[in-house]
This record gives sequence, structure tokens and C-alpha cells, in this order.
Amino acid sequence: MVWAIQAAALSSLVLAVVAHPHARSSEHQLHARQLTSTIDRFRPRQRATYVAESRDVSTLSVSTSSGDYVQVAETHLRRIHPEAEFRRASDNYVSGNGIGRVYFKQTLFGFDMDDADFNVNVKPDGSIFSYGDSLYTGPLPDAAPAAAALINPEPALETVADVLALPITPSEGDYVEESQTSFTVQGLSNVVAPPAGQLVYYRTPEGSLAPAWRIETDLDDHWLTTYLQAEGGSEVLAVTDYIADNSYEVFQWPTNDPLNNRRRNDVLPRDREASPLGWHRDESQRYFETRGNNAIAQPNTDGDAEFLSEPRPESRLLIFRAPFNQAWEPKQYIEASTIQLFYTSNKFRDILYVLGFNEAAGNFQTSNFGRGGVGNDSVQLNTQDGSGLNNANFATPPDGQMGRMRMYVFNSTVPNRDSSFEAGIVVHEYTHGLTNRMTGGPANSRCLNVLESGGMGEGWSDFYATALRITGRDTRTVDYPIGDYATGRPGVGIRAFVYSTNMQTNPYTYSSLNGLTRVHQYGTVWCTMLYEMLWNLIDAHGNTDRIEPSLDRNGIPRDGRYLGMKIVLDALALQPCNPTFVQARNAIVDADTALTGGENRCNIWKAFAKRGLGENAANVGGVYTDDFTVPAGVC
Ligand SMILES: *[C@@H]1O[C@H](CO)[C@@H](O)[C@H](O)[C@H]1NC(C)=O
Ligand SMILES: *[C@@H]1O[C@H](CO)[C@@H](O)[C@H](O)[C@H]1NC(C)=O
Ligand SMILES: [Zn+2]
Repeated sequence: MVWAIQAAALSSLVLAVVAHPHARSSEHQLHARQLTSTIDRFRPRQRATYVAESRDVSTLSVSTSSGDYVQVAETHLRRIHPEAEFRRASDNYVSGNGIGRVYFKQTLFGFDMDDADFNVNVKPDGSIFSYGDSLYTGPLPDAAPAAAALINPEPALETVADVLALPITPSEGDYVEESQTSFTVQGLSNVVAPPAGQLVYYRTPEGSLAPAWRIETDLDDHWLTTYLQAEGGSEVLAVTDYIADNSYEVFQWPTNDPLNNRRRNDVLPRDREASPLGWHRDESQRYFETRGNNAIAQPNTDGDAEFLSEPRPESRLLIFRAPFNQAWEPKQYIEASTIQLFYTSNKFRDILYVLGFNEAAGNFQTSNFGRGGVGNDSVQLNTQDGSGLNNANFATPPDGQMGRMRMYVFNSTVPNRDSSFEAGIVVHEYTHGLTNRMTGGPANSRCLNVLESGGMGEGWSDFYATALRITGRDTRTVDYPIGDYATGRPGVGIRAFVYSTNMQTNPYTYSSLNGLTRVHQYGTVWCTMLYEMLWNLIDAHGNTDRIEPSLDRNGIPRDGRYLGMKIVLDALALQPCNPTFVQARNAIVDADTALTGGENRCNIWKAFAKRGLGENAANVGGVYTDDFTVPAGVC
């Protein structure tokens, strides 16, 4: 078979492929577009078949009463492929809907066949729900590849670098062979991690089996795995890019909820500056699950404190998909929920980063890349957390300790609804992390604790949830509720009034605080004022559908909506610990002065004055008194 090639023949073959091994330094510009088209050219072929229960029930039911789903899965694989050699991956688990998932990889002479997988989904009763199969069934070689016949590591990496035009110089590397079938390359520039090679089997374009070097080259924006024929030729068989392919099947940002919406695959949604290593890696580790530098997301139906061992959705290719149906009970789509929560939180987090909630400001990240602040504090995201119902919460310890978001199921509709599918609730909760870290400094998380400041804490959370919901077509006549999807109260939500610039629809003014006693009530008054301000800024600076802020040279957002979000964020860092409404308003005026030189002073004052927080508004002896005047000379 193919491996009967002599070592002597190899060197010339390799030299013919590697045209200029030492002349590449002038070609070190990585042409992103060219690389993308090369990756497209070598994209792996679709080989798997998927057999679902409904299609072939009779042949699928395995007669076993054993509760061991792993054993059931293995028996099933042996039945379909009696001759195949395989190993079981260690990542089997039972998902929230009770389906056991077991993953196998075909092997030969102890080497993985990297494009030959078998996965079995086993129902709780021990029968097969479905399975996927891409095993190789063609003729097999009679002997393992002979080490002497393999292309050496250095020419192998040279070939990969040439074909993909990578900005590395393989001849500068120090080749460390861990065994005759694996190696790493130390000492290269322009790489995030040392390139690594491992001997595997892979199919050629003609469908025969060949020994191949699986070579990983991690170049920051492109984290590539290349399969290079290792014997009898040195053809590139396939290339995959973890980063470019990275995608999530979700209600795409900034969609608020599933009603009248469909899920799509959002490909590579991370902001490059905010998340330089993407969403699935910190400086010391990579993760093939809903985990990364910013957050770690998992179900937590038992509601306990342990989260690391919960089953997170996984994907070797960082392609996250899971079924969702509005007609199902939440536990049936718990994986989709975990993916959605991970996605929404990361997306919002990247936007806040661009607006100024960065490492120095005390944000939540494992690795801070030397940009200030204290690391080791991503956010623990628990979906369908069993410790509560009809709510959600966020715990914010000081910078350097993980934040924790708990998302609960809401039971007021049939079927119940999952708050992780309402972006506004996720944003509301994450904003608690923002406001607690930024007010009074990152190390002090006790600055929004009294009724007035804690109330504004709720108001800021509603503000970001609402500001991000506004579309480019909306005008100041649009009204928005909070929590309308989760509670099944469209157009109404859970606050006393919807957010509106109309005094009839929402009559709250500063003095309304006199009749109120709870933080969410105070928050609704505060967010009503911020909503007025937001529309004044949108009317002055325009609106867009931009899903991320676009900043000008001076760091000022180009449209009114993100400008409002930035001024509010900047003010958090200015105001004192446990601020009052009056102080928080002053901090917003000051934040605009610092950012724009006070360009928006008039629009800001007019908004607060309209809602009774004008120049002479005051809390005297516990009585809040409205004032509707704008200071002289401001407008
Ligand atoms: C981060 O936390 C881990 C344990 O949770 C600890 O071992 C490690 O030293 C911490 N790293 C830093 C930089 O604080
Ligand atoms: C919904 O949850 C609440 C607790 O928040 C509980 O008191 C109530 O009985 C539940 N209702 C239904 C219909 O399950
Ligand atoms: Zn809240």
C-alpha cells in the first residue's frame, strides 16, 4: 500500500515542494484574504452520516437494560463496525435532557484517524437516540508507518508555511522530537505557542488512508491545524482554523428574545481588541467548551456552589450548536441555553470593554495581558440555576475574584421560559458587575448598597438592557419594558412603568421616590431619567443599528446611543461611593465635560430637569423635591 516508499526517495520530493526554505523573511506579511481562501481550498470534507431515531427505529433499538450508557454506545459501535479499531474519548457526559453522549475515534496501530469519528446519543432507558458516523471503511495497510519513511519535522513545517504563506521561518526553529511520531518547534517568532506535530492518519482527496502530520500553528488571528501527507508525497490534505470557524447557534446580538426571531450561526463574533485571544482561551489554557478568558458557562440545575464539573457544551472546532424549541420545557434545551448565555455575556462584555470597562477599570478576565487591574476573575455563568425561580442575580466581589451570574427559569408561562434567552435580563445582570466594580474603584464592591445608590444600580442595569434594545429605526416615541419575554408579559414586563419619554405613559419624576421603598422601584425612576437623556443624545447625534460602538479619534462614540452609554459608564468612575441621584447626575454632566468638553451639557440637563432632577432638586430631611429648571447659561 502507500507506505512502501523508501526513505531515499523522500528528500528530493520534499525539496521539490519547498521552493525557497530560507527566502521567506521578505514574504512575512500575512495576507489575511489569501490565507482565508487557502483555508477554504483545503477545508475538510463532510464525511459523517447522522442516523436519528425517527428514521430507523427498528434497527437502532439495542436490547440492553443496562443503565451504563457508555457500554451501550460501545456495543452499538461494535455492531455497526465489527472490525474497526477505536478509542473512546474521555469527554462523554449526560446532558440536561438525560441523553448520554459518547464520542469515539477510530484508530489504527495506535494512531488516531483524525477524520474518523463516531458519536452515540443514548436515551435514559438505554436505547439509542441517534448516532453520527464518519469511520473509514476502505482497505487498511498491514503495518504501521515506518519512522524512517516519514517526512522529517522541519521540511514538513516548511511545506505548511509555504503553502499557507505563514509569517514564520521554520529554519530558525529548534525541533524537539518527543517521540518519532510527535514534535514541537521552539524558538520561532510570530507564534502564540510553539508549533506542534503529531502523526495521525487522514484521508486523501481520493478517499484512501495516508499517514499524515497534524501540524498546529497558532498565529493569534489564525490558529491552524494542517494535515500534511507524511509519506509517499507531501500534499496538504486539509486545513482547519479554530478561530475563523468559531461559531455559535444563537439568537444573534442584539436580538432580545426568541419571539418572532430565529436562531442563526454567528461566526467569530468577538471584538478583536476587547478579546485578543478570542472567547475560548486565556494566557495559559485553551478550552473547547463554553469557557474562556472572560467567562465560564454551564447549567447548574442543582443550584449548588460547584460549577467546574458541570457539563458544558463542547466542540473541538469551537462550533457550538444545540437544539432549541420554544415549545419545549427549558431543561430540554439546556445546552442551547448555556451557549446563548455564554454568547450574550461575552458579546456585551466586549462592547463594555470598547466603552471603557477594561482591565484597569476592574473588569472580569482571567488573564489581563499586562493591561492593568487584577486578573483571575472571569464570570461564572450558571444557566437554569436551581437555587431560585423567576429571577436572576449577579454577585460582584472586588477585582481579582470571580463574578457569578445565576440565571433562573421563569414559571409564569407554559412551557416555562429560560431567562438566559432574554438578552435584556443577561445584560441587566452583567451590568451589576460593571456598576459595582466602577463605582468607588475596582477594589471596593460595597458602593451601591444604600437604598438610593442600590436603586440606581438597578436603574443602570435596566438602562443598558434598554439602550441595547433600541434599533436604528426607533424614535423617541418607542417604549420598552424589562423582562417581558421571561414573564410572558409582552409590552408590559415587570416594572411599574415601561421606559418612555412620554409623561403620561411613564409619569415618574424625582419626587416619585417619596412613595417608594425598594431598590427596583428607585431603579425605575433613575432609568426613566437616563432614558430621557439617551433620546436627547440620539436626536442630537443620530441613531444606527451598529452592533458595536464605533469611536472617533478622540474616543467619542459616533452615534447618540453609544455616546449615551459611554457617558453613563464614564460617570460611574467619577461618582463617590454610594452616590445620591443628585451626585450621579452631576457625575454624568462631568463625564460629558471630560469626554466632549461639555458639548452635550444642555441635552443632559434638559433630560434630568424634565423628570424633576433639575438644578434645585433636593432631598431635604428625607423628602425628595422636584425642580424642573436647567441651570442658567447651560442651554
Ligand atoms: C489565580 O487563582 C488560582 C487559584 O484559583 C491561583 O492558584 C493562582 O495563583 C491565581 N493567579 C493569580 C495571578 O492570582
Ligand atoms: C412558580 O414559582 C413560585 C416561586 O417563585 C412558586 O411559588 C409558584 O408556586 C410557582 N408556580 C407554578 C405554576 O409552578
Ligand atoms: Zn438587578
